[in-house]
Amino acid sequence: MCGIVGAVAQRNVVPILLQGLQRLEYRGYDSAGLVVVNNNRLECIRSNGRVAELATRSAETSGHIGIAHTRWATHGVPSERNAHPHLSGERIAVVHNGIIENYEELRILLAAEGYVFKSDTDSEVIAHLIHSHYARGNSLLDATQTALAELVGAYAIGVVAADNPDQLICARKGSPLLLGVGVKEHFIASDMSALLQVTQKVVYLEEGDVAEVGLLDYRIFDASGKVVERPVHTSELNNESVELGEYRHYMQKEIHEQPQALANTLEAVCNSQSLIPGIFGAEAASTFAQVDSILILACGTSNHAGLVARFWLEEIAGIPCSVEIASEYRYRVSVPNPKTLVVTISQSGETADTLAALNHAKACGHLHTLAICNVPESAIIRQSKLRMLTRAGPEIGVASTKAFTTQLAALFLLTLVLAKQRGKLSAEQEQKHLHELRHLPSAAQAVLKLEPSIAQMAEHFVDKRHALFLGRGLHYPIALEGALKLKEISYIHAEAYPAGELKHGPLALVDKDMPVIAVAPNDTLLEKLKSNLQEVRARGGELYVVADAGTRFQSSEGVHLMQMPEHAGYLSPILHVIPLQLLAYYVALQKGTDVDKPRNLAKSVTVE
Ligand code: M6R
Repeated sequence: MCGIVGAVAQRNVVPILLQGLQRLEYRGYDSAGLVVVNNNRLECIRSNGRVAELATRSAETSGHIGIAHTRWATHGVPSERNAHPHLSGERIAVVHNGIIENYEELRILLAAEGYVFKSDTDSEVIAHLIHSHYARGNSLLDATQTALAELVGAYAIGVVAADNPDQLICARKGSPLLLGVGVKEHFIASDMSALLQVTQKVVYLEEGDVAEVGLLDYRIFDASGKVVERPVHTSELNNESVELGEYRHYMQKEIHEQPQALANTLEAVCNSQSLIPGIFGAEAASTFAQVDSILILACGTSNHAGLVARFWLEEIAGIPCSVEIASEYRYRVSVPNPKTLVVTISQSGETADTLAALNHAKACGHLHTLAICNVPESAIIRQSKLRMLTRAGPEIGVASTKAFTTQLAALFLLTLVLAKQRGKLSAEQEQKHLHELRHLPSAAQAVLKLEPSIAQMAEHFVDKRHALFLGRGLHYPIALEGALKLKEISYIHAEAYPAGELKHGPLALVDKDMPVIAVAPNDTLLEKLKSNLQEVRARGGELYVVADAGTRFQSSEGVHLMQMPEHAGYLSPILHVIPLQLLAYYVALQKGTDVDKPRNLAKSVTVE
């Protein structure tokens, strides 16, 4: 989704803005732009395409204050005309993330005042609205606050004025924005990775905050307009964590980081002799004692993590669990149970649908909320009563990999903690699970050794147009995740089915051109799955089987094996997804798609 960077400094801010935009490229964008104030004039450059192109065009530009943007088109096609910043006259420039829902009415009102619109975006109304209040003699801060009060929708914005070269105004509501604190310089950005080259000190703006940012200081106003202090944090991120290093793509790097990410996420538990609810927050024990069911809300890959967790929670902890796609739940009339623990899962913690679903659940009367999230201080974390941070580190590739496996690790811990509290876990079982969790990072490392053979296998997929993924039980969501990975980065149409469903329809699709990828762990459903796979072979379907120790699968004509080193019991989904991630990666690589920034997609989906 769109990204914002802004800076007020004694030095030329253009290189800071450009480097920040490059760091935000992973969020997904189609055009970029920047504006600086120079000698009481706005110098604005926009480009339809990559930040590198903007950098070339900005070579001669300089200024001590500026704002910049990467745009992911919502209203109006990707084009230079629709790229941000949007200007009102020669005086006001605005960058905006989010969607202004009442932009059509505002456009009519502003047009009646004489404003001429140059873009098709919803964002341009913000620039003219601020201009119209500024032109009446209000300060830039007052003009912005008044304009914001007239907007319906979501925004993170940065504003500069040609005749106010010392100050930028920013605000957030529904879209993320943070403030970077340097030495006699200040910055704004959509996420911290954009600012690591200049500071690690960060202030997370809260919903409704407006900030006046100058060279030496800044003031933050909360939603009621009152001046507030927000804590300054030191970010744990560093340059290395967001750089590619020896890898060809972030996705490949992130697949390889999974053993360490799992070790980091499990650190507190693995170093302890027993499981404690406190890992989910101070009030976890008392909250868990009051709940009788779980409702998981999430989108995309995070939703798949929830689907795996449903099996664990019902089977191990004996607690009823339902999983809903956040974008559906938020608009559905459901029957709330105040004893339900609402669990949101999100890598970014800013996904608009998941956030809205959480707020919808609260509005329906749900009191108990838990967030499993990879970004500290994100909106979903802040708005939940309990939380557990996955410690995957920044995930930059659009295709989620290490966030997924660490979400699963966190959800397994939740299962064990609830099972223990509900008297469903003996001391012996607890120790056995802890032992298996301690082994998980090295088990994941061993799976990565399949990479060269999977890279070769990927060649078979390059000319395919469709693929079918099969799994059963706990591993059906892994089939879903494998299909999602393949479709989002290789653009091959992929569907996942519970293998038992095959004969109820999708078997009609199977022929020699339809590769079928099966997730085949050594579990109680193995023999049933084998029968399903026979049905595929009998129709000439080519099989790719992710099988683990003891399954007695063998490579043969039309059967290609991804042989996992061991069977990991309940933790098996965490390992079985890794070959599917690698397969998707290598198919995309061989097809030459933009692996880390696949077409039409964005990393953090901060709009509906
Ligand atoms: O940041 P979130 O986990 O809330 O994001 C949810 C989905 O947008 C995300 O998982 C998406 O499906 C990924 N691109 C999948 O790889």
